[in-house]
Amino acid sequence: MSDEAFDAICSFVESDLGFATSHYNDSYLDRRISSRIRRTNSEGYEAYADLLRSDPDEQTALLDSFSINVTGFFRNPDVWDGVRSVLRSLSASNETVHVWSAACADGREAYSLAMLARDDPEIDESSVYVLGTDISDPALETARQGVYRRTRTTDIDDQLSYLETYEDYVECEDDCVRIRPTLSETVRFERHDLINDEPKSGFDLVICRNLFIYIDPAYKESMLETIARSLRPGGYLVIGKAETIPPSLKATFTIHDGRLRIYRVDSTDGSAPSNG
Ligand SMILES: C[S@@+](CC[C@H](N)C(=O)[O-])C[C@H]1O[C@@H](n2cnc3c(N)ncnc32)[C@H](O)[C@@H]1O
Repeated sequence: MSDEAFDAICSFVESDLGFATSHYNDSYLDRRISSRIRRTNSEGYEAYADLLRSDPDEQTALLDSFSINVTGFFRNPDVWDGVRSVLRSLSASNETVHVWSAACADGREAYSLAMLARDDPEIDESSVYVLGTDISDPALETARQGVYRRTRTTDIDDQLSYLETYEDYVECEDDCVRIRPTLSETVRFERHDLINDEPKSGFDLVICRNLFIYIDPAYKESMLETIARSLRPGGYLVIGKAETIPPSLKATFTIHDGRLRIYRVDSTDGSAPSNG
């Protein structure tokens, strides 16, 4: 890679197109830019930089390719067994259980939480409040609509089959599944940027998976601090299976289940929830 040309592309994207490339790691950005270079048959970074500056359609295409919104219902099913047991224990010891799906993409993770709470007889679903947040407005729009298309590459029914009775929570149509209103009423969505926005407060469980792998280490720590401040004392954090807690925060997040990447905060000044 030509470092200079790569840096020039990243600076242009940040200053002119408003996407904060400096928050993401170089290998992630490079994979996306290289893929656009191939798709546009450009002869390297310099040629692609010229194309990008002059072609608004290519600017849109590159920004689209940066949106890392791969997700699914009950993604990594073994993690959901761990989430189930955390929700059971929170439900047994709290009148209300506030759950935050941070970086929820199109909302399937947040709806999975709400379905699980309804499905499990040991969880009092009426006490569980789910908030889904993301930085992407189009993803949040899909989340609020709660309609997910079946495509050649996405077997939604297979994802949902983690719960035998999933049709209680979604209406299955020919080409899509639609979250039933009784479920969607229990999940709220709002925009939140984990890098620039304030922490929330009073959450018992935060699920923030498959975002840190893309983030520059300098920002990862402050994002995890934002999450720690959003949790009640004794609250839980679930991160992605390929993600780790930086050494500087190992005293803040103690391991609850190392294999499933479930952690617990021992003490914060968490107070009443500001959301949900
Ligand atoms: C790969 S998806 C993860 C979705 C879901 N958590 C999962 O594991 O299936 C990453 C999401 O992070 C969101 N994101 C990127 N930067 C963010 C930020 N600074 N604050 C909040 N969300 C962000 C993206 O818009 C995207 O929807």
